[in-house]
Amino acid sequence: MSSPLLSIEDLNISFKTSKGIVKANQGISLEVREEEILGLIGETGCGKTTLGKAILRLLSGKATLEGKIVYRGTDLLTLPEKEMRRFRGKEIGIMLQNPSACLNPVLSAGSQIAEIYRYHEGMGKKEAEKKAGKMLELVGISSSRGCEYPHQFSGGMLQRVMVAIGLALRPGLLIADEPTRGLDTDTKLQISELIAGLVRKENSSMLLITHDLEIAGRLADRIAVMYAGEIVEIGKVAEILSNPKHPYTLDLLHSLPGKGFRTVSGQPPSLVSPPSGCRYHPRCSFRLEACSQVHPALMGFEGERLTRCFLSEKGRINETAAQPFLNAQSALKCEEE
Ligand SMILES: Nc1ncnc2c1ncn2[C@@H]1O[C@H](COP(=O)(O)OP(=O)(O)OP(=O)(O)O)[C@@H](O)[C@H]1O
Ligand SMILES: [Mg+2]
Repeated sequence: MSSPLLSIEDLNISFKTSKGIVKANQGISLEVREEEILGLIGETGCGKTTLGKAILRLLSGKATLEGKIVYRGTDLLTLPEKEMRRFRGKEIGIMLQNPSACLNPVLSAGSQIAEIYRYHEGMGKKEAEKKAGKMLELVGISSSRGCEYPHQFSGGMLQRVMVAIGLALRPGLLIADEPTRGLDTDTKLQISELIAGLVRKENSSMLLITHDLEIAGRLADRIAVMYAGEIVEIGKVAEILSNPKHPYTLDLLHSLPGKGFRTVSGQPPSLVSPPSGCRYHPRCSFRLEACSQVHPALMGFEGERLTRCFLSEKGRINETAAQPFLNAQSALKCEEE
């Protein structure tokens, strides 16, 4: 097992809003290892972007954070803002969710990349522009397009520009937030493979945030599943896809095009007043009596698997209670065959 590059320990994040306190991340503990791609998946509003932004301390002032975010031995949450700037871009790159909102519409793509080299590496204008051109070529855009403005690029090309920005300083970790959202299937595959290829080539790591289990399954080494602000399952990709231990993961798998295309029934819960007990229990087809009353901990399973479900209490599936769940798992395997 490779060593952790980023280690998040018992992280709680809440936002004060007019509707109450939104508990966007609750007791998050996970690590991104050296040279690893960790996929973070979950439905809309479950807290994925909040976690990604928190790592670089990009959340608004309304956010309250508790816990630790340790990158190569430094707890980022305790750093003075001036030192934190050194980590943004240089140590940890980020591709934010909405490229058109992130890019400056009145600056050319090339000059936005060049600016990074001028700010972080003190390069002169000409040298920075040359380096920006090379970065554009690396992501499959001709350097001659560096003088064009964001509105002149297609969605896929804009994402390539975002990749160039995220990787410009060759960071140890890239946080890619929904890098393929809104793209057609072919472009989605091209962009995701481009990002993963560059990350692997540089021996970097990536936290790949997506609601798209198919993309995460293709690119990641491990997957962390998030539900209503909590991690409910973590494991190696092959294990998660072939043998889910949490009913929510199973339901997500059934929503894949090749595996039934059934959307997860019900609505995601409010993060102001989440359900008691297991947060998934109101939508769970396999709930037990305890599920509405007792909040399950993230429990160790065989190997490196962690799951937050009473069906897998004490690291073993309780075969009697979990029979319907086990039946559904084997039905999923049959669909696969
Ligand atoms: N600045 C903020 N102020 C108040 N609430 C916020 C803020 N940012 C996020 N939230 C809330 O925190 C919760 C988690 O939001 P987040 O954007 O992290 O979800 P997400 O998983 O990234 O969703 P999506 O898949 O739609 O991008 C939501 O209820 C959201 O409304
Ligand atoms: Mg998001």
